Amino acid sequence: MKKTAIIYSFNTVKTKKIAEEILEVFGNEDIEMVNAEEITFEKFVSYENIIMGVSTWFDGELPNYWDEFVPDLEELDLTGKKIAIFGLGDQINYAENFIDGVGMMGEIVEERGAVLVGFTSIEGYSFENSKALRGNKFIGLAIDYENQGSKNKERITNWVNQLRTELD
Ligand SMILES: Cc1cc2nc3c(=O)[nH]c(=O)nc-3n(C[C@H](O)[C@H](O)[C@H](O)COP(=O)(O)O)c2cc1C
Repeated sequence: MKKTAIIYSFNTVKTKKIAEEILEVFGNEDIEMVNAEEITFEKFVSYENIIMGVSTWFDGELPNYWDEFVPDLEELDLTGKKIAIFGLGDQINYAENFIDGVGMMGEIVEERGAVLVGFTSIEGYSFENSKALRGNKFIGLAIDYENQGSKNKERITNWVNQLRTELD
């Protein structure tokens, strides 16, 4: 694979755990783990493939740690980049906004020219609405630690196998 990063906040607990599991399934030490709270403009564009960890907080909002970088992101030229987003959410307590953060981040990077990869089926989830929906798919990987933690491993493994073929 070309130069690849997994970008997430090192200060999270669950998102960090999923990022580490993704790396483990890739089994690829060439993938860099990058802290979303320290990422710079230059560093972000240095990767060809970017896997982003984006949970949803505050009833359908991006977590605060993205606040600083999102304005930068909205200025970047991401043409030619492949981006895959995984997001943590809670489909029972936040059924109306399930993994909205994935949809919001996806929209931002697509507007800047990136190609989103890693779409997954909504089968096996139960929710009312999500900004991450496109047709009958999520535009990334949905992880519901609170309610379906036992499915994490299988979902991550399937997603990584899919990304192996979809990333450059
Ligand atoms: C105050 C609060 C608001 C939340 N809002 C949403 C939401 O709108 N949509 C969603 O899918 N999950 C929501 N969640 C669930 C979190 O995304 C979920 O707990 C996730 O595992 C957090 O992962 P993190 O701690 O790594 O960021 C919310 C959780 C809390 C505590």
